Amino acid sequence: MPRQEALELTRRVLKHFENDTLDVADDVWCEPREAYVDPDRFAADVQMLRRVPHVIGWAGEVAAPGQYTTKDVLGVPVLVARGKDGTLRAFVNGCAHRGAQVAADCGKTRMFSCPYHGWSYGLDGRLVGTPARKMFAGADLEQRGLIPLPVSDQAGLLVMGLSSDVDVSDALGDIAMPLSEYGFDHNHHVETRRFDLACNWKLAVDVNFEGYHFPYVHADTLDPLASNNSVIDIYARHIRWSFPFRDIVQFRDQPEADWPDQFFGTVVYGLFPSCVLIEAPGTSQMLRAYPGKNPGETVLYLSIGAPKEITTDEERAWYKMGIDGAAQVLDGQDFPMAAACQRGLEAGVDHVVFGRNEPLLHHLASVRNQALAG
Ligand code: FES
Ligand SMILES: [Fe+2]
Repeated sequence: MPRQEALELTRRVLKHFENDTLDVADDVWCEPREAYVDPDRFAADVQMLRRVPHVIGWAGEVAAPGQYTTKDVLGVPVLVARGKDGTLRAFVNGCAHRGAQVAADCGKTRMFSCPYHGWSYGLDGRLVGTPARKMFAGADLEQRGLIPLPVSDQAGLLVMGLSSDVDVSDALGDIAMPLSEYGFDHNHHVETRRFDLACNWKLAVDVNFEGYHFPYVHADTLDPLASNNSVIDIYARHIRWSFPFRDIVQFRDQPEADWPDQFFGTVVYGLFPSCVLIEAPGTSQMLRAYPGKNPGETVLYLSIGAPKEITTDEERAWYKMGIDGAAQVLDGQDFPMAAACQRGLEAGVDHVVFGRNEPLLHHLASVRNQALAG
């Protein structure tokens, strides 16, 4: 984010430190259990998620012509590729012959070759090679190719839609401004890990947007370092939550000119509907949460990025330590709580309550409800 904005966050946070306060909501919010356990609501959620744009990666993952990456988005295998001419394209990663995935992981190529029977496709998705082509006379091969999906890069992030009628232009709105300062268009993908969670997808997102649980869930990890004297910013459907390192108090007695360029803490962006960016000094993480097969299942991907290509063992070890640490906190501490909540809701707890000290959970529930209605 721009330096001026980082300074403003620091001012707001230091004020909260003085009074031991945080940004709060005006009132409490109750969300009925159906939001987490009801099959009809679950089906409506999935339909809504199919209608809206999703942030699925960093533009730096496909910066150069020929670079491609593959993602699972809400169960749909997606291929994103940068053409020779620099055009960014996305496709359903499914062969026009029988549907097999024509690409895996990420890399750089001139064409995609299906591992099943060797049909090949250009970076523009056109079918360019069919072994034993004569055997397919009458199958309209000229019309066959990879199914295109809408995609664009905005603020250094890859934004795509799961059907041709999803409008991905300006999906980020005003939050593009702070996001564009992070250099995501140069971010290299280091590693992605998948977690299969026993909770509703909304619980998996919400666990990232309140610090009320820090002293209980993260007593031995986050809590000694970070405080919940936090501030929130709302950009229509998208949100930002900034919570400081406890040591930020050292800046209270220093002139602002000596404050660091970056906010001394963690900044968490919630990009509607279910992408979470976690930015702290030296680390760049992306979480993507999608409903699984039923209301109590979530498929979550944790990715870690680096501002440059990782080439040395030392760098690899550093980033491995980073993702191990993130996984320890998320999968070892946060996600078990989300799964515990799911069990309670399934057992009959009739609604959840968001306190005034959990203001972003109010906003998340509200924008989801609006999207469901829309
Ligand atoms: S499924 Fe791809 S070539 Fe047969
Ligand atoms: Fe947490």
